[in-house]
Amino acid sequence: MATLNVNGSMREFEAEDDTPLLWVLREQLGLTGTKYGCGVAQCGACTVHIDGVPTRSCVRPAATVKATEKIVTIEGLSPNGSHPVQKAWAALDVPQCGYCQSGMIMAAVALLKTKPNPSDQDIDTAMTNICRCGTYNRIRAAIKVVAKGGDTKRAGLSITHVDGSTT
Ligand code: FES
Ligand code: FES
Repeated sequence: MATLNVNGSMREFEAEDDTPLLWVLREQLGLTGTKYGCGVAQCGACTVHIDGVPTRSCVRPAATVKATEKIVTIEGLSPNGSHPVQKAWAALDVPQCGYCQSGMIMAAVALLKTKPNPSDQDIDTAMTNICRCGTYNRIRAAIKVVAKGGDTKRAGLSITHVDGSTT
């Protein structure tokens, strides 16, 4: 048995030395919000934070993560989807099929922690995740909304909601 520090809890797991962290999170710890896309560190669907650093969990063996390192998955960002990045994602209807979005959100949260007001260049550099639905423009807009304190107008955006109101 080995131990991981995940979303504030110590969790035990059993795995081969080369078993990716992604499979331990999904299959042993039941944290299925983190997705499998490519398995070769290209798409970012499996992104989690390890001590705040966005990490592609499909290529990181779980056995190499120390119990002192803090892992955060999409489930650990907030108890009810109320993290500012999650709120901006919802406000701008960012997801399409949604498959890539856990990884996108984790990458965006890490970016905004290090650069609270990122430039387009900063976003391009940090957000290397792949979205087959092509939601890149809405992702960029949502990051800018978070950077402006959640205020769409300050971010230079106007959003018309289903009830006809705008923000
Ligand atoms: S599944 Fe890990 S980067 Fe694609
Ligand atoms: S929303 Fe479908 S892959 Fe990104």
